[in-house]
Amino acid sequence: MKAAVVGAGPAGLFFALLLKKTDPRHEVVVYERNRLDDTFGFGVVFSDATEQALEGADAEVSAAMIAEGHRWDDIEIHYRGRVLTSTGHAFSALSRQTLLRILADRCRALGVRMCLEREIQDPESLRDADLVLAADGANSAVRERYREHFRPSADVRPNKFVWLGTSKPFPAFTFYFKPDAHGLWRVHAYQYEPDHSTFIVEARDETWQAAGLARAGEAETIAFCERLFATELEGHRLLSNRSIWRSFPTIRNERWHHENVALIGDAAHTAHFSVGSGTKLAMEDAIALVRALAMHERIPQALVAYERARRPAVESLQRAAQASLMWFEDTERYMTLEPIQFAFTLLTRSLRVTHQNLKVRDPAFMAEVDAWFAAQASAQAGVPVPAIPLNPPPAAGAPPSPASPAILSAPPPMFTPFRIRGLVLSNRVVVSPMSQYSAEDGTPNDWHLVHLGSRALGGAGLVFAEMTDVSEEARITPWCPGLYQPEHAAAWRRIVDFVHGRTESKIAVQLGHAGRKASTRRLWEGDNEPLPAGNWPVVSASAIPYYPHSQVPKEVTRADMDGVIADFVRATRLAIEAGFDLLEVHMAHGYLLASFISPLTNQRSDDYGGSLENRMRFPLEVFDAVRGAWPAHKPMSVRISAVDWAPGGMQAADSVEVARLLKAHDCDITDVSAGQTVADAKPQYGRQFQTPFADRIRHEVGIATMAVGNISSYQDVNTILAAGRADLCVLARAHLWDPYWTRHAAYEQGYPLPWPDPYATLNKYKPRPI
Ligand SMILES: Cc1cc2nc3c(=O)[nH]c(=O)nc-3n(C[C@H](O)[C@H](O)[C@H](O)COP(=O)(O)OP(=O)(O)OC[C@H]3O[C@@H](n4cnc5c(N)ncnc54)[C@H](O)[C@@H]3O)c2cc1C
Ligand SMILES: Cc1cc2nc3c(=O)[nH]c(=O)nc-3n(C[C@H](O)[C@H](O)[C@H](O)COP(=O)(O)O)c2cc1C
Repeated sequence: MKAAVVGAGPAGLFFALLLKKTDPRHEVVVYERNRLDDTFGFGVVFSDATEQALEGADAEVSAAMIAEGHRWDDIEIHYRGRVLTSTGHAFSALSRQTLLRILADRCRALGVRMCLEREIQDPESLRDADLVLAADGANSAVRERYREHFRPSADVRPNKFVWLGTSKPFPAFTFYFKPDAHGLWRVHAYQYEPDHSTFIVEARDETWQAAGLARAGEAETIAFCERLFATELEGHRLLSNRSIWRSFPTIRNERWHHENVALIGDAAHTAHFSVGSGTKLAMEDAIALVRALAMHERIPQALVAYERARRPAVESLQRAAQASLMWFEDTERYMTLEPIQFAFTLLTRSLRVTHQNLKVRDPAFMAEVDAWFAAQASAQAGVPVPAIPLNPPPAAGAPPSPASPAILSAPPPMFTPFRIRGLVLSNRVVVSPMSQYSAEDGTPNDWHLVHLGSRALGGAGLVFAEMTDVSEEARITPWCPGLYQPEHAAAWRRIVDFVHGRTESKIAVQLGHAGRKASTRRLWEGDNEPLPAGNWPVVSASAIPYYPHSQVPKEVTRADMDGVIADFVRATRLAIEAGFDLLEVHMAHGYLLASFISPLTNQRSDDYGGSLENRMRFPLEVFDAVRGAWPAHKPMSVRISAVDWAPGGMQAADSVEVARLLKAHDCDITDVSAGQTVADAKPQYGRQFQTPFADRIRHEVGIATMAVGNISSYQDVNTILAAGRADLCVLARAHLWDPYWTRHAAYEQGYPLPWPDPYATLNKYKPRPI
């Protein structure tokens, strides 16, 4: 095979040597516009896992990298006068120049042809090769030449950063967070060889502008940073190497190959430097591409296989990098956190490292996190949180161990209490409201008793009943429960009494009006589809149907609003009779109140349309009326759709204002969901995909939040809570799958959550994997 490789960065060189190694008859030529030692930047970081992958691909390169690299375990966080250290992270770093030299030496030894100082202006000149590899970095000219086939996008981030070096040796991966008159400066620093460290300085654009750096050359940048970090540098100088201030571009391509041209490394994708993975990704691409070429005779097939093999891992890492870079864009938000929580939120910012991972890496650090969290939870709830004997969970099928000595520890964050007004929850797990479409004439029945009763027995601190409608016409479907007839309150009372009498859980009601999504079918018969027969008229903020074929709702009049308010108040009184502990007003998911909040569904020209303040007017009138009727000692929450996932709809910043208004009206906690406003929304699903909105609202508004959406492991729950991203974690489908989710999480963490008396025999039972 004849391969033309454009670019002698880590991707191009590693690919070239691996390909040549598979068969010396391959003709591999690398074109590089610079000399090899012209490289930008200083060091690159690798993790343990990357080193193992590299060793499998080429033991010689891997051995040389290990011999020349610098290794360490600690991360040091310098924050508000304190230094917090976390250990067990197993990093190594290497100078970029050294890495390129190792790769280039190996290329030469294997017979790769190197054409240095040879810029490829037009890759068409190379197309007679069997394969043209675009390894020409983030600004790839090859990619741009065929852009209509690769369809690249560049998400240029707002922060400014500069990659500097220093002679100061850092004992750990070091983060500085340093405020000055212009704003907050972040430093990411690590040593990569004796007397050489990378020192990346990052700031918000406004901070950087205020410091006058927009016009600064390399010398001014160095002078400014040396002054700013004089204490931290302890007399060491900063070094530059084409060190210009830049904005990080996250590059993605819809396709990574076109005919015989393939993208690799930064040309295909970039990942923010705060996850330190650009070089790793580039080298892993090379491994995958060479493997695919070995397995497929025809190059186009190999390129399809290469992209198929690599895309999931790359996209997963890009998601982690996105979460990480956003943390660094928003660091100002976290600067009032207690040092230990700040450190924890920094360490878990990308979602890849969890409470559980850190417990394995650094048990002492996590003991401090858990003890701090439990102490503040105890103070908040006004109840003691005793230390618990926390023995390792018994291995499945292992014989019961004879009285092993108890290790006393703070409970995991999920098993700490939380107070909302007079209500104290014994833990922070919440069963999300889930419509069952199983009621008769608005009356809940045995299905609801068993459904909610078993979830309460399952150990969650709070169980939400499904959306419960304030009138007959407010129901989503004819099978939705309500609170508009006395018999509804009595039927709910039976369920509430079971939860109170037989479990430790508390139970909440979610009051709603379906608005334009009323008079539709059950979820499994066609979500939001109009009923085949027996439809009733629907109302909304504006006369806009959900689907083009849905009923056109009537725009509510002032008189209709008064009627809806009266219905909510009647339902509130019935909820009091039923004995619910918490009442949530449903202002999310495109139902009636949500239809007022979103500009996509509210096009009114009266006092209830236009500005966000106007759009919130009616939902707040409803809230105030309910709050007035609901007992003062009982808490209220509101579920919101933080974003609409649609152009022109609600954005995260709007939901901060919504939460601010709710707080001003005495809402106790915001239940932060998203979307379901319009039929053509494009949600960005992923693990914990809505949690960042809860995090932002909690910190920017200072109101308690519940996070919901794809939270499914106890690691996620503990991490969200300990990082302060939310006060409660709400799980829906995970609880359908496993009503005993909280009990099983307790068992897996070795937390002694006692079973109800009739099940007491389980306190000594050892389950086996199915
Ligand atoms: C501030 C900063 C810090 C970083 N820190 C880390 C880190 O700690 N760990 C990590 O793994 N990664 C890090 N990275 C990312 C890392 O540098 C890149 O992801 C990695 O270099 C990508 O390798 P590559 O081979 O795809 O591209 P590059 O390394 O960019 O190589 C591309 C090569 O192509 C050459 N070239 C370009 N156009 C042409 C042309 N037309 N003709 C011929 N030659 C051409 C260039 O001169 C260059 O040598 C960091 C990046 C930045 C910006
Ligand atoms: C079967 C089902 C019914 C639901 N019904 C409601 C509801 O009545 N009220 C509500 O606010 N959300 C409802 N939702 C949304 C969930 O409460 C939750 O926000 C969503 O499923 C995301 O959480 P998860 O990823 O943990 O499932 C429902 C979800 C499911 C799966």
